Amino acid sequence: MENFIAKHTFLVTGGAGFIGSHLVDFLIKHHAKKVVVLDNLATGYWHNLAHLANEPNFHFIEGDIRSYTTCLQACEGIDFVLHQAALGAVARSVQDPFQTHEVNVQGFMNMLRAVKTLPVRKMVYASSSSVYGNTQVFPQQEDKLGQLLSPYACTKYINEIYAQIFFQTYRTNCIGLRYFNVFGPRQNPDGMYAAVIPRFIKALLQEEQAQIYGSGEQSRDFTYIDNVVYANMLALMQPTETLQERVFNIACGENVSLNNLWHHLNQFNRTTQPMYYTTERPGDIRQSWASIALAEKHLGYSPQVYSREGLWQTLAWYKAQSVVV
Ligand SMILES: NC(=O)c1ccc[n+]([C@@H]2O[C@H](COP(=O)([O-])OP(=O)(O)OC[C@H]3O[C@@H](n4cnc5c(N)ncnc54)[C@H](O)[C@@H]3O)[C@@H](O)[C@H]2O)c1
Repeated sequence: MENFIAKHTFLVTGGAGFIGSHLVDFLIKHHAKKVVVLDNLATGYWHNLAHLANEPNFHFIEGDIRSYTTCLQACEGIDFVLHQAALGAVARSVQDPFQTHEVNVQGFMNMLRAVKTLPVRKMVYASSSSVYGNTQVFPQQEDKLGQLLSPYACTKYINEIYAQIFFQTYRTNCIGLRYFNVFGPRQNPDGMYAAVIPRFIKALLQEEQAQIYGSGEQSRDFTYIDNVVYANMLALMQPTETLQERVFNIACGENVSLNNLWHHLNQFNRTTQPMYYTTERPGDIRQSWASIALAEKHLGYSPQVYSREGLWQTLAWYKAQSVVV
């Protein structure tokens, strides 16, 4: 892997965000020839990358994927693209479906066009477990989708369809990774669209009750960030030029309810803090639990860190930060 990374140039869109910044760190740590980040800092932060500012192989472009010219410029001289830039959060997309569409669909199309136009070898892009919608098939398999439940899920599914069509029509080499509830250090605990794990950890460390939307029996396949970074590297390195399978679940293959999540965090923290329940949010899926067989078979993926270990590490990281205590 080290050899591969050292020989190539990479563009990480959304590289100032939670997942993107971990990808950038990994590439720089493994001596990538060049790593370019394209990010408009809409939901990401320069402080996630500030420690790399003096690395000679690191370049930051503050720009928007909604501009095709910007995407094209960012892809100049790039071998591989890791496309992470998007507006996440189901609730945000329910609030403003048009903005989510512009960034997640129009922005994706601009990247696809740039990758097709220039001699980029491959684009690995972030899809989402939300595309499973209300499926009743568990564990979730890539080709068994239910009905979509939110504008966000819709944008991610449109990405997959376009990537498939571009592959069929132009042989554009794109691979989609359906991330399942990623968590780990640097995930933003603040704001109305914060993900559940950083939100719970913040509540725990501030000795507040955790808010749960719904009964708390909804479950998620929580996936520690290291697994996602590993999967992206595998997807870059595997020869996928002729592979018929173009999207893969990236998860742990575990199923943890939100009630249990809060319980585990309290165990680790040696506390017994209470939680309170409010009404369910529209667009939220009830259960997510992935089959990772396809990623195992074609990418050689297996989880490197399971959810309990990841939770423990994440809690330790937030405890070491002064921002949430
Ligand atoms: N975190 C998860 O659990 C999860 C699950 C499934 C899929 N995903 C997907 O993974 C990707 C990364 O998610 P994340 O959790 O790191 O979110 P994040 O919000 O931390 O990162 C997204 C980054 O994209 C940037 N961005 C947003 N709009 C942009 C635009 N118009 N132009 C350029 N940059 C823009 C943001 O500033 C941010 O740095 C997203 O595509 C998201 O949909 C995340």
